[in-house]
Parts: sequence; C-alpha cells; structure tokens
Amino acid sequence: MTRAGTAANGTAGGTATARAFPNIALVKYWGKRDEAVMLPAAGSLSLTLDAYATTTAVTLDASAASDRFELNGEAQAGDRLRRVTRFLDLVRERSGSTARALVRSHNEAPTGAGLASSASGFAALATAASAAYGLPGDPASLSRLARRGSGSAARSIIPGVSVWHAGDGDETSFAEPVPAPEMRMVIVTVDERQKAISSREAMRLTALTSPFYPAWVASTEQSLEAMLEACRDGDFTRIGRITESHALRMHAVIQSADPPVRYLAPTSIAVFDAVSALRDRGVEAYATADAGPNVCVVVRPAEAEAVADELRGFGRVRVVGPGAGAELIDADPRLS
Ligand code: DP6
Repeated sequence: MTRAGTAANGTAGGTATARAFPNIALVKYWGKRDEAVMLPAAGSLSLTLDAYATTTAVTLDASAASDRFELNGEAQAGDRLRRVTRFLDLVRERSGSTARALVRSHNEAPTGAGLASSASGFAALATAASAAYGLPGDPASLSRLARRGSGSAARSIIPGVSVWHAGDGDETSFAEPVPAPEMRMVIVTVDERQKAISSREAMRLTALTSPFYPAWVASTEQSLEAMLEACRDGDFTRIGRITESHALRMHAVIQSADPPVRYLAPTSIAVFDAVSALRDRGVEAYATADAGPNVCVVVRPAEAEAVADELRGFGRVRVVGPGAGAELIDADPRLS
C-alpha cells in the first residue's frame, strides 16, 4: 500500500521520511548464530545517541525497474545499493507490493568510521520503508525488521538504553527499552576514515577462526546479565566497569582472529590510558570503542564537560546524551 498525500505523520506526497540515531553498545554484539535472519550469538545493550542522525526518505515508484539509493546527495551503486535493495526485497515480500523505491539518506556521521552509521541507517530505512509500504510501525516490529539490515540497527529503533534480546528465533530477537541512570558519552573521534574491514566481515572471521570465540559468547551473556542488574540498580560505577572490560574483551577476541584484525589505533589506546588516569584522580569515566579507532567515554552528566576538556588533545571531542528512537518526521528539505 502506498500512502499518498499527508495521511500519516511522516508521509507526504507518497514519501515517508524517518530519522534515527546511532547507538553505542555497552555490552557488545559481535557474532551471529544465524546470518540469514541476522540472529546474534548473544544479547547486547546500548545507548541510542542524540547526535549523528540519519534521515531517510522512501518514495515508491511503481514504474521504476530497480531501486535507487542516494546518500548525502550522491547516487550509490555496488554493495551499498545491493544492501538497500535486499532490505527492500524483504519489505516488499512482507507487504505484497512489487514497487521499487527511491531511497534518499542524509547521514550526519562520517560513514564507516565506527560511529554506527549502519545502525542509524537501517533503523531509519526500516521506519520509513514500513510507513511507505504499509507494514506495522510498532517498535518491536520495526526493531525486528531493522535487525535484518544490520544487527545493531535493532537497538537504534529504541530511545536511550535498550537491550537487544538474542531471542530464540526471528520473532523474539528485538530490542526494548531498559531503565538506566542518566549518563553522557564523550566521543573522541580519533580518525574519520572508512575502516579497513567491515564489522560484518570481521565478525564472521572471528567466529570462524578465533579459539576464544566460544568463551567470548559465554562471557557476553554473563556481562549482559550483570549489566541489566546494574541498570536496574542505577549503579553507574558498575555500568562503567562492565562497559570498559567488555569492550576490551571484544577487541581481544577480534585481534585473536586469523588473520588478526585490529581496530584500535595507538591514539585509541592512549585515550583508554587517559581515562584510566582520570579514574585514578577520582573522576568516574569508562572507555569503550566499536569496530573502529574512535573512543566513547561513559561519564556522569555533571562530569561530561570536564572529561571532554581533558580528552581534547586526542581528537575531535563531542559530548552526547541519550537520544530519541527512530521516528517518522516531516519531509526534510535536504532530501528533496
Ligand atoms: C562493534 O551491526 O554493524 O558496533 O549485523 O553485520 O551489520 P552487522 O554488524 P553491525 O555490528 C556492530 C558491531 C559493534 C558492536 C555493537 O554495536 O554491539
């Protein structure tokens, strides 16, 4: 079904527009138990941010022979277009429509630099495409759908802190909100370049070749349980400790792949050391990093600016907080 006119929020002139933010995991997702339907090896937990949004407009075009995808105003081909088309094929299969679409996205984060642009990207696409093709728009359905595009996108549907359940199948593997104490993240952008190896590929390699992989999966389940308890108790210190140790474990298992993969740069390690030195001085700060060299430091709101000042020497620094879940918005002039 195509929604024309201004029938629903976020849909106008046959176009549905949605905005979603990236998320940074405090308990990481690294490994799949089913790649076809994108089921993770273990559950994970993250903070959806209030910065670096992706805004995506989906316009159905019944007369087009193929989908088109524009990112930041540039027509995309190759892998990026194929990933969008594969995702839309799933949406078409569920909606019964055969219409192709024009997808226009604007990404405020540097793409591919480990600031989770695939998470905000597929969360925004799932939300806009669901509205454009007439699929259910409740958070659990959107989270399950977004997961099919990129695992971590399941969590960007949800505002603030969310847990993505490993689930026992497609229907039960989605993210939902978790009450947690107030926190901020200081993002230290060490390097904005595209990463050398995608998380998808490195994840596969880790699962296939690391002798530590089974221990990583088992320990992630334990970390998630401990993290959920810490969130429930509002225990910031415990949240921070689990965050940093779990991030380092993820980078350790990635480095133990064959051939080894290393995402952290010397400057990233220097940030981890600086954060540890801050703790020695009584400032509670805890570092984490996704599949790239940039470091995110979890802090209490009152200490965010002071910690940001301390870390400015390592790269571009930005304080971010908990952000909104994916939502339909009015047409965005940057996408017209
Ligand atoms: C390190 O969600 O990008 O950011 O599911 O293959 O698309 P695919 O991978 P992706 O991996 C994210 C990995 C991570 C950790 C995390 O976000 O939990």
